[in-house]
Order: sequence, then C-alpha cells, then structure tokens
Amino acid sequence: NLSQPQKLIQLAEWCKNYFRNQLTDTDEGKSIALNYLTHRGIDIEAINSFQLGYCPKAHGEMTKQAQVEGATIEDLEQIGVTIRRDNWIRDRFESRVIFPIFNISGKTIGFGGRTMAENKEKKIAKYINSPETEIYHKSHVLYGLYQAKKEIINQQNCYIVEGYTDVISMHMAGVHNVVASAGTSLTMDQVRLLRRFTDTVTIIYDGDSAGIGAAIRGVELILQEGMFVKVVPLPEGEDPDSFARSNSQFKDYVQRNEKDFIEYASIARLNQTQNDPISRATAISEIVRLISIIPYLHLRMKYMRECSRLMQIREENLYLELRKFQEKHA
Ligand code: CTP
Ligand code: MN
Ligand code: MN
Ligand code: MN
Ligand code: MN
Repeated sequence: NLSQPQKLIQLAEWCKNYFRNQLTDTDEGKSIALNYLTHRGIDIEAINSFQLGYCPKAHGEMTKQAQVEGATIEDLEQIGVTIRRDNWIRDRFESRVIFPIFNISGKTIGFGGRTMAENKEKKIAKYINSPETEIYHKSHVLYGLYQAKKEIINQQNCYIVEGYTDVISMHMAGVHNVVASAGTSLTMDQVRLLRRFTDTVTIIYDGDSAGIGAAIRGVELILQEGMFVKVVPLPEGEDPDSFARSNSQFKDYVQRNEKDFIEYASIARLNQTQNDPISRATAISEIVRLISIIPYLHLRMKYMRECSRLMQIREENLYLELRKFQEKHA
C-alpha cells in the first residue's frame, strides 16, 4: 500500500515514460520533437540521461491514455499534468518538448515543457512548468541536481545556470557539475540544498540584463550562507547553451574565466564609475555591502584587504563604510 505522495510520484514516473515513448517511438514525436532537439544539437545520450520527452498535440491524449492505465483524473490534476474545467480536459504540456524534473533520488516530481512554435511575438509562454503540487515544491528543487551531485562532490564546485538547455548543453560539453534554478530566481532553500555538497558555487547566467540582475540577487543569498561565489561572465547575448554549442573549448573557457565574484564585481563596478567621485563612492558602498553579508569575520577581512587593493581605497575607510551596514543589521 503506497502513501499518497508515493502514489503521485509513481504516476509522475508513468507520465515521464509516456512522454519518452511519444518522443522516440511515434511518428509525430520523431518528426516534430526529436527533429527539434536534433536541430538544437541535443544528442541521444543527453536525451536519455535527462529523459526528455514529448507531449502529443491531440487534446487530452496523455490524460486519456493515463486513465486507460488506471489513473484517476483527480491524481492527474494533482500532479499538474492535466487541466480540467467545466466542459473540457486538456494536457497541460500538449505540443511541447518535455524536460522531466527529478528529485534528489532521481524520481520524477514535475515537468517543464518548451514550445517548438516560432512564437516571435511571444503570444504563448516559451516554457511552462508544473505548478506547486504535493510532490513538487519548486523553491526546494534544482534542475539537474540528481545528475550532477556526484560531480559536485568530486569538484567541490557547482555551476548554477538559468535554464534547462543550459544544463544539458554543459553536460554535453563535459561539465557535469551544473544545476539550474529553472523558472524561479534562486531561493534560500535551493542554496542550502547545494551547501550539503559543496562550499563553492559558480554562477554562469545569461549575458543579458535580466541574467546579470538575477546573478546579483542570487549572490547575496549564497554569501549569506557562508559559501564562496565565483562567476563566469558570458559575452552579451550568449547563454551557457548557445555559448557551449558555438565554442568547442567551452570547458577550458569556463575554467580559465572563473573569477571570484566580489573581486570581479569590485573591478567591474569601479570601471563603470569613470572617476566620478559620487559614483565611485556608490560603487565602493555596494561592494562593502556585499562583504558585510558574509557571516565569517576572517573572510570579511580577507575581502576588505582585497577590495582595498583593487579599488585603491584605504582599508580603514572601507571599515568605516562596513560599520554602517553592520549597524543596520544590529
Ligand atoms: N523559464 C520559464 N518560463 C518562461 C521562460 C523561462 O520557466 N516563460 C525558465 C526556464 O526554466 C528556462 C529558464 O527560465 O530554461 C531560462 O529562460 P531563458 O533564458 O529565456 O530560456 P532558455 O533556457 O535559454 O531557453 P531556450 O534556449 O530553449 O530558448
Ligand atoms: Mn519552503
Ligand atoms: Mn535569459
Ligand atoms: Mn537562456
Ligand atoms: Mn537558451
């Protein structure tokens, strides 16, 4: 006798297998979705290790099949794959490529679905994801963690990227210690989950303004947990997926361009100020605020020394600034 969550996970597993079969064993799946993935450069090994799938376009087709196999409409709704209204039933992910989301032991708990439509005017969401359910709490889950955890432990570092395809392309480029926060900005629970495996994380976000903003918010959470943060800046307009596919030396590039985040931010912010004293003061204050978040005295001291050198400002003046933030915290 299975508990309700176990029963729902079993159903999610069934759906995952159904989607997989649709992708690899049906004409519709092969000609539309497998073809799409192949054109994106996602190979069969990656399709298998991430268990990618396809949800057919016929309305409610998956739901019908699941019912034939004994699933109830209530359970299908509960795990978020079926949407029911008064007079219709639909599959949430119809006509989409499926990215199953696994828990840390590799069981399916949710899905992301990408449209393959051109969608230039953004009339429909590029991705839709499972809603919060009894088995899927998105703020606690990191996409790819199941596949990455061994290598995170080995490398004592974890790359954090934004999207599903970033994780998959980096795997194909030989970088296996990578996860995505997929669909949410990074949360404290996700950071704590990672801290069980490593003290160091490296952020590789999209080289657009959304990506850079998200990176900075993520950094504060990570510093607060007492972890080290590095960053690999990407050229504007690239994301890890596009960059990995256009750069055969991707793994080397990443290793050569990994920078301590606070040192990187100190230099980058200072370069933006162009010797204007007020914007210089703001930049210094922003960096000191980041340092003030770190919970360890010795680490704060190390960064204060470093920042003093990089920003050409006397350490004692930095400490005056630091005190302002510490008074605010107290
Ligand atoms: N995302 C989402 N809903 C959207 C857009 C994005 O949940 N409408 C999530 C997805 O997990 C996506 C990630 O945010 O992978 C990053 O978004 P974006 O950079 O726009 O997508 P990519 O991952 O680059 O997708 P693709 O390469 O397929 O265009
Ligand atoms: Mn919570
Ligand atoms: Mn983006
Ligand atoms: Mn992207
Ligand atoms: Mn992309």
